[in-house]
Amino acid sequence: MKLFLDTAHLEDIKRVAAMGLLDGVTTNPTLISREEGKFKDILYNICEVVKGPVNAEVVSLKADEMIAEGRELAKLHENIVVKIPMTPDGLVATKTLSSEGIPVNVTLIFSPSQALLAAKAGAAYVSPFLGRLDDISHVGMELVQQIIAIYDNYGFSTEVLAASLRHPMHVVEAALAGADIATLPPKVFDQLFKHPLTDIGIDRFLADWNKVKDRLLGQ
Ligand code: E4P
Repeated sequence: MKLFLDTAHLEDIKRVAAMGLLDGVTTNPTLISREEGKFKDILYNICEVVKGPVNAEVVSLKADEMIAEGRELAKLHENIVVKIPMTPDGLVATKTLSSEGIPVNVTLIFSPSQALLAAKAGAAYVSPFLGRLDDISHVGMELVQQIIAIYDNYGFSTEVLAASLRHPMHVVEAALAGADIATLPPKVFDQLFKHPLTDIGIDRFLADWNKVKDRLLGQ
């Protein structure tokens, strides 16, 4: 499973990229609004750090305007994936941009029927928002399972990008369901490493080593 960071914060992106674990980045207008500087500069700087897809979302709602915006975004950098919201206009824009070779991520997916239409429109990625479904007492992970089953039935190549992940178990469950990608806030990424028994184990090993290290090292 590929791991993306769900942030526009360059320092977090640099930190995880330096670990060699970063496959891509997703942004949205809310995440961009938290950063200083101009939209295009923020995106370009992210693209220069990440060796993989960098998702940039359009803010227009009409198909022709989304298409123009998507083309502009794609010119910014070869890593750009254009994120388009799941609406009828969005699907028209998805079809056009995809046919021009511009990869599109159809975002704000909350039902399997939406994901089916996005794949038929030629989306390279779909983003089911799990956490937001959980927030309203639906089981977000069931949506991922249904989308994967539908795509498998018909051989769609659209990648399933599990989004709106709020905690490590969301990531584990997305991996068990077979999602192609999980996009995580930096905080959730950091939580994936953590286990108290790992910390205790390291402490014990080092304590035992240090007791006899002079002998072991022949000093
Ligand atoms: C995905 O691409 C979105 O940017 C993101 O995962 C939304 O997450 P949220 O529901 O926590 O805002």
